[in-house]
Amino acid sequence: MDLLQALQERRSIYNFKRDPVDKLTLSTIFTYASWAPTHYMKEPWRIHVYQGEGRKAFVHAIIASYERSGMIKRDQKGEKMKASMTDFLLAIPHHALIYFPIDADPIRYEEDYAAVSAFIQNAQLAAWTFDVGMLWTITPYMHDPAFYKDIGLDEQMKIAAVMQIGYPQKIPNSKPRTPIEDKLTFMT
Ligand SMILES: Cc1cc2nc3c(=O)[nH]c(=O)nc-3n(C[C@H](O)[C@H](O)[C@H](O)COP(=O)(O)O)c2cc1C
Repeated sequence: MDLLQALQERRSIYNFKRDPVDKLTLSTIFTYASWAPTHYMKEPWRIHVYQGEGRKAFVHAIIASYERSGMIKRDQKGEKMKASMTDFLLAIPHHALIYFPIDADPIRYEEDYAAVSAFIQNAQLAAWTFDVGMLWTITPYMHDPAFYKDIGLDEQMKIAAVMQIGYPQKIPNSKPRTPIEDKLTFMT
């Protein structure tokens, strides 16, 4: 698969098979991702992959955060929702927490965030060439200090995303993009 084909054909995956992706494949994917541009060669990305039994505490920390935020109510209906969300999240083979150290300088911080975003997209594209699917997620628990504490992450770190990873059960249809002419202006 060439680069342009992967760029166009990659899709966000919402349904994963149960089979895990082996560690070598995941390391290879993240190795390709690390060819992302990075100012001052800071390579700010850090990755924790939660898989197998390691998913349990991570998923419980997510659910606890949803409960604190009120997204999951502490009533009977909430209990049902909690059970189904837990099952749903535990069925995803891998959750990759992508984070980076917070630079006190706001410009450096932006550069680092941008580099990590490039890293993430590289990972998605590399994964696609190995038939591995990903979903890039950003959710409110990433701003919850208690969540940081629960997963043992230093608050000097910024969580950029959680990537859900596995072999696709179903590949969604392509979502067409706006013709670039609508957004592109040559200033001559
Ligand atoms: C920064 C970022 C955050 C995203 N967060 C979520 C998310 O929390 N949940 C979700 O379902 N999709 C999320 N997405 C995926 C987008 O919904 C998806 O890329 C979009 O629908 C286009 O589909 P495609 O990736 O298959 O082309 C996110 C994408 C980006 C770039």
